[in-house]
Amino acid sequence: MEQLTKIIEFTNEISILEISYLVASILFILGLKKLSHPDTARAGNLWAAAGMASAILFTILFHKKEGESIGNIPWIILALAIGTFIGWYASKKVKMTAMPQMVSIFNGMGGACAALISLMEFPKMQNMLASDGATNMFNGEAIAILLGLMIGGVSFAGSMIAFGKLDGRIGDIKHPILRTINLSFLVGLLVALVLIMTIKPEADNNLVIYLFAGAALIYGITFVMPIGGADMPVVISLLNSFTGVAAAMGGFLYNNQAMLTGGILVGSSGTILTILMCKAMNRSLLNVIIGAFGGSTAGSASTGDKTVKEITLSDAAILLSYSQKVYIIPGYGLAVAQAQHLCHELDVLLSGKGVDVKYGIHPVAGRMPGHMNVLLAEADVPYEKLVEMEDVNNEIGNTDVVIVIGANDVVNPAAETDPSSPIFGMPVIKAWDAKNIIVMKRSMAQGYAAIDNELFYHPKNRMLFGDAKATMQKLIAEIKAL
Ligand code: TAP
Repeated sequence: MEQLTKIIEFTNEISILEISYLVASILFILGLKKLSHPDTARAGNLWAAAGMASAILFTILFHKKEGESIGNIPWIILALAIGTFIGWYASKKVKMTAMPQMVSIFNGMGGACAALISLMEFPKMQNMLASDGATNMFNGEAIAILLGLMIGGVSFAGSMIAFGKLDGRIGDIKHPILRTINLSFLVGLLVALVLIMTIKPEADNNLVIYLFAGAALIYGITFVMPIGGADMPVVISLLNSFTGVAAAMGGFLYNNQAMLTGGILVGSSGTILTILMCKAMNRSLLNVIIGAFGGSTAGSASTGDKTVKEITLSDAAILLSYSQKVYIIPGYGLAVAQAQHLCHELDVLLSGKGVDVKYGIHPVAGRMPGHMNVLLAEADVPYEKLVEMEDVNNEIGNTDVVIVIGANDVVNPAAETDPSSPIFGMPVIKAWDAKNIIVMKRSMAQGYAAIDNELFYHPKNRMLFGDAKATMQKLIAEIKAL
């Protein structure tokens, strides 16, 4: 009987909490797995959110420190309610095109949380060590606190700058000297981290940790400030992985498995995404970390006589209707015009006429990872119709028409032909290899990387000027009238 009571007591306290963390971790992992496919992504989000909700709920109910339950419950509930409302309202209101900005802000908040945890825990740790008469702070807890503060601080400040840049509120400050400053700053921060641990702990003497936090924030700013142009997605995904690592430090600190697993998942998936982005944009990770590369707004030199040919709606309708194989290459403009539903309608219409229609998806088309996939999934385009860049390039030679809708940089031949171009080396969709090209956009304006695009002057290309949605409506009407 005594045994049974002990088991129940044990089950009621520690193990329920630990089991709940294990369940939360499993939900995070399953959620992440489901996020990798558009069909299951929505459910994946809900699964991971359920994991997070259960971890929070069980912590409030069962966490005990020195036998005491958690306090300040009304404040915790109020903070949760405010945070939930802001998150819900922001995600309802945000436009699809402003999603990267929102991701930056949310990511920054994660970094700030991790940094604040460290700012709270350092004084406690120092006071305890001082009362124990310790001569330095060399221990695992201090490493977790300082790394959490440094990485979280950099992630918060960097994400705020990334938000400002994506939203067009902050420009780029570029100077080669920034490369040296940033590298020195990073080395300085790491040295300071080690030096802080050698200090003799003194109760209530926290100046050093505030200076360290300030330095991390400044580094976050100087790190992102010079980066611009086409390299921004890499930075955002890198900052995302920083936030994950900073949160994992909190998990170490509190011996909290849910926090640790969540942090590691965000950190590792962010790192994998960063590497994939680097490959897709032909940037090295070192360049990203040094933080002074790319984003040149200088246009590639354009020489010689260039003529732009236009195509009429009726010619475009005939060309598309009598093709055997058509590739649609969507880009940022498709998202701006919100023409994804019409895009699908065009696909269905042409498929009905026996045309083989597929979508060529560039990994950094749009303004966020998976932007085109999400957009087209919203319009119920079957996932099997979305073809990755390498496969598109392999079969583009036998494609009758490539129709580029609101894309620019991702089909720019300068990436292959012009070593002076800021996007030189970035893998692109070789639209010029198709038999015919139609580019649908409003003008000859440049895209995100702010460079000219020789594809528009290519002998096989004809421009179909206008807003993608309006043009698509007219094009569909023309095809129907044939
Ligand atoms: P962009 O190169 O940015 O070109 C988009 C084009 O869409 C513009 O040239 C614009 O030309 C046209 N457009 C805008 N509104 C339109 C509308 N209503 N109707 C029709 N066309 C419209 O886009 P992309 O080819 O998708 O390349 C993405 C770029 O963004 C890359 O440089 C990439 O590195 C960068 N980037 C990507 C990400 C991620 S992760 N995907 C994040 C940040 C940055 P007009 O003004 O003439 O219409």
